[in-house]
Amino acid sequence: MTVPTRSAAALLAPLLLAAGPSLSQAAEVVNVYTYRQPELIQPLLDAFTKETGIATRVIFADRGLEERIRAEGANSPADVLLTVDINRLAAAKEAGITAPLANAAIEANVPAEYRDPEGEWFGLTMRGRVVYASKDRVPEEAITYEELADPKWKGRICTRSGQHVYNIGLFSAMVAHLGAEGAEKWLTGLKNNLAVKPAGGDRDQAKAIFAGQCDIALGNTYYVALMMTNEKEPEQKEWASAIKVLMPNAGDRGTHVNISGMALAKNAPNRDNAVKLMEFLSGDEAQRIYAETNHEYPVEKGIAVSDIVASFGDLKPDTLPLAEIAKHRQEASELVDKVGYDDGPSS
Ligand SMILES: [Fe+2]
Repeated sequence: MTVPTRSAAALLAPLLLAAGPSLSQAAEVVNVYTYRQPELIQPLLDAFTKETGIATRVIFADRGLEERIRAEGANSPADVLLTVDINRLAAAKEAGITAPLANAAIEANVPAEYRDPEGEWFGLTMRGRVVYASKDRVPEEAITYEELADPKWKGRICTRSGQHVYNIGLFSAMVAHLGAEGAEKWLTGLKNNLAVKPAGGDRDQAKAIFAGQCDIALGNTYYVALMMTNEKEPEQKEWASAIKVLMPNAGDRGTHVNISGMALAKNAPNRDNAVKLMEFLSGDEAQRIYAETNHEYPVEKGIAVSDIVASFGDLKPDTLPLAEIAKHRQEASELVDKVGYDDGPSS
C-alpha cells in the first residue's frame, strides 16, 4: 500500500466525506500506521469511529513503518503508530519519530512499568512469553526460564529464531536479570538443549511438539488461543491440544511479558484526534475488545481476560520495567550471534 501524501489525502477527502456518516463528522480523521494485522485492530477502530465520529485511515505494513515516517519527515501523515514489541517501540523513540505525551487518562489506565517514562510510548496489551509443553511427555507443572538450560532437556526444546523480536525481548530480560555473563551461560545451555535448528513462528513450535520433534517450546500466550479457535486451519486445533501452557517463574519473579503499544507521531497532523484515539485504546471498551477478540492481556487493571486465556492459569507478570528490558536489546542480539543460537544444536 502506498502512503498518501498530504495532497493525495486532500484529493481523497471528498470520497471519505461521501462515505462517512455525516459531513461534519467525517471531516475529522486520524491516520494510523500499524504493524498489527488488520483483522485484529479493525474492530477497535470501528468502535472508536462509532463513539467519536472520527474516521480512521490505516496504513498497514509488515516492515519499514519507522523508516517511512522518518523519510516523510515534517510532511508525514502519520498520527498514531501501533506496533508490537517493546524493542520496536523503544527503537521508534530513538529514531525520533515519536512525540512525548502527558495525559492523565492514559496514565491512569496504563501502569507505569508498561509505558515510557517520558510518555513517548504506551503499552496497550500484554502477552506472556510462556513455555508450551507436551501434555504427554512433560509431567512438570511448573518451570523457570533458567531451567530451560538444564541438560535434562537436551534435544527436547524447539524455538523460533533467536533474533526474532519476541525472543530478543525475553533474552534482553534475561540479560537484565542474570547479567551479561549469566545470560551467556544460560543461552548457551538453551542452545545446547535444542532439538532442531530454530525456524518458523511460535505456532510451528506447537506443531513440532504435536509431531513429536520436541517436548517443550517458547511461545506467546495468544497463539495458543488462536490455534484453539482456528476454523480456517483446523489442524492447528490439534497442535494446540498437544500442548499445555506453563507460566515460567510463576513461583518467583514472574513471567516475562511483552506488549503491543502505541505512540503519538512526532509530526501528527491531526494531533487532537490522535490523542482521542490513544485515550480510547487505553480505555475500558477497547481493552475489553483486545481481551476478547485478540486473546491478549489488557494492561488496564480490572478488565477480564478471555475464557481461553483464563484457562492457562493466572499470569504473574515480571514487573521489571519494559524500558529497562529494552536497554539490553543490542546486547541480547549480539549474544544470540555469539553463542550461534540460530545454528541449532551443536552435536
Ligand atoms: Fe505475534
